[in-house]
Parts: sequence; C-alpha cells; structure tokens
Amino acid sequence: MCAIEATPLIQTDRLILRRPVISDAGELCQLANDLGVAGMLSTMPYPYTPKHADEFLGRETHWREPNFAIEHREFGFMGMIGVSEKEPGRPEIGYWLGRPFWGRGYATEALRGALGWMTSDWRRKVVWAGHFSDNKASGQVLVKAGFLYTGDVVLQDCLARGQQVPTRKMVWLA
Ligand SMILES: CC(C)(COP(=O)(O)OP(=O)(O)OC[C@H]1O[C@@H](n2cnc3c(N)ncnc32)[C@H](O)[C@@H]1OP(=O)(O)O)[C@@H](O)C(=O)NCCC(=O)NCCS
Repeated sequence: MCAIEATPLIQTDRLILRRPVISDAGELCQLANDLGVAGMLSTMPYPYTPKHADEFLGRETHWREPNFAIEHREFGFMGMIGVSEKEPGRPEIGYWLGRPFWGRGYATEALRGALGWMTSDWRRKVVWAGHFSDNKASGQVLVKAGFLYTGDVVLQDCLARGQQVPTRKMVWLA
C-alpha cells in the first residue's frame, strides 16, 4: 500500500509550501510565541512552548488535511497556512507568519499559491475564510487574493486572548 501525499509541495516565486516536519519545532516555537500572532488566531495557545510545537507537529492530521509550512527559499520556515473542512464541502483557510516576515507580501503570495493548489489539485471551487475585526492586515491579504466579504460577522473563540472576538467572514470563488 502506498501513502497518498495529502500535502504536496507548492512553489511560488519566493516560497515553498510543504508538509510540516518535526524539525520545524524550534523555529515554529520561536515565531509562534508572540501574542501578535496567537492573538489573531482561534486555537493557537499563548505562551507557545516547545511542548505545543511538538504536539502540533506530531499530529497525524497533517497527513490527511492540507496543512503547509511556509518556507522561504532563503530564510527557511516562516509560518503556516492550512485548510480545515469541519463541514464537508466547506473548506476554510487560515494562515500566519512570524513577525520578522510581515509586510513584504509573503502572506498574499502563500495564500495565492494555496488557492491555486486547492482549485487545481483538490478540486475545490469555493473557499471560506474569516479574520478578527481588529486584524486589518489579514483582511487586506484576503482582499488582495480575491476574497469578498459576505457581510456576516460572528463571534469566534480566541484561545490566546481567552475571549470571543467578532470575526468578519469572507468567501472566494474559483
Ligand atoms: C496578517 C499577516 C498574515 C499578514 O502577513 P503579511 O505577509 O505581512 O501580508 P502581506 O504583506 O501579504 O499583506 C499585508 C497587507 O496588509 C496591509 N496592512 C498591514 N497593516 C495594516 C493595517 N493596520 N490596516 C490596514 N492594512 C494593513 C499592508 O499594507 C498590506 O497591504 P498592501 O500590499 O495592499 O499594502 C501577518 O501579519 C500575520 O501572520 N499576523 C498574525 C497572524 C494572523 O493575523 N493571521 C491571519 C488570521 S485571519
């Protein structure tokens, strides 16, 4: 029996999206241990410890779901981008980059690369996303990649802040 590679390599001009591996733990922990990162995500704990990194990287779901490490061709591991499909046929994409890499168009580049793979290889025609209302940068990333606001604002958990945060829902059509 051969394994199906659920998270293949995606290449963009500056980035490689690949399956996360246990040797990413050091950089993952260093970049994720930042309230400016964790506080914009639903389920990332803060403080982020080496134990959290090992637990996350050891999850076997990385083999089933498209969870990509974002790697810069020169600078190495920068963050993550992944898709969850809690409701069948309703893929929702999320991403983060470590603070040193913000503001250079990397998130937009990674998102466009992941969307290309989702439509061509994964055959999805609709992709959902959401960003906390106080996260203007992420809203801009999603708009640049072609997402549209649905007009829905829902309360979503933020583990790092320990509260629910208004979240603006967006949708992308292939
Ligand atoms: C949000 C995040 C992914 C952006 O990554 P990035 O690589 O800096 O994004 P890009 O450079 O591709 O684009 C950022 C855009 O937001 C804009 N922006 C940044 N701060 C902004 C603000 N306060 N208000 C409005 N726009 C802002 C930038 O100008 C840029 O748009 P432009 O190219 O039109 O000028 C990154 O900051 C991050 O990982 N943050 C923490 C985790 C997170 O928020 N994840 C997303 C959860 S929904």
